[in-house]
Amino acid sequence: MKHKDRNDCWLLISGKVYNVTQFLEDHSGGVKVLLAASEKDATDDFEDVGLSDDAREQMQKYYIGEVDATTIPTRRTYKAQTSTVATHQEDPGFLFKII
Ligand code: HEM
Repeated sequence: MKHKDRNDCWLLISGKVYNVTQFLEDHSGGVKVLLAASEKDATDDFEDVGLSDDAREQMQKYYIGEVDATTIPTRRTYKAQTSTVATHQEDPGFLFKII
C-alpha cells in the first residue's frame, strides 16, 4: 500500500504484485487509472476493464511477487465526500415578525 505514486507504483491483481512504475507513462489507459488502482486490491478494477491477451502478457514483465492474502484488507474504507449543501448565510437585510 506504500507503493502508490508516480515514482513508486505497485499493483495487486489476483494475489500477484506488479511494479508498474516504469510502465505508467506508457500505459495506453493512462497514468491516472493505474495510480487509482494502487494502494488496494485492483483485481476487480482490472477485470472490469477487460484487457486484451496482449495486455495480460505484458503484465508479466512487471511481476515482482505474490502477496500474503491474509494481509489484504477485505474492504476498503472510503471517506464519503462531504456534499455541498447550499446554505444561505448572508444577512437577509430585513426581518418579518411572524405573529
Ligand atoms: C500491469 C498491469 C497492466 C498492463 C500491462 C496494462 C496494459 C494495457 C494495455 C496494453 C492496454 C491497451 C488495450 C489492450 O491491450 O487491452 C491497456 C488499456 C487500458 N488499461 Fe491497462 N494495463 C494494466 C493495468 C490496468 C489497470 C489496473 C487498469 C484499471 C484499473 C487498467 C485500465 C486500462 C484502461 C481503462 C485501458 C483503456 C481501455 C480501452 O482503450 O478500451 N489497466 N492497458
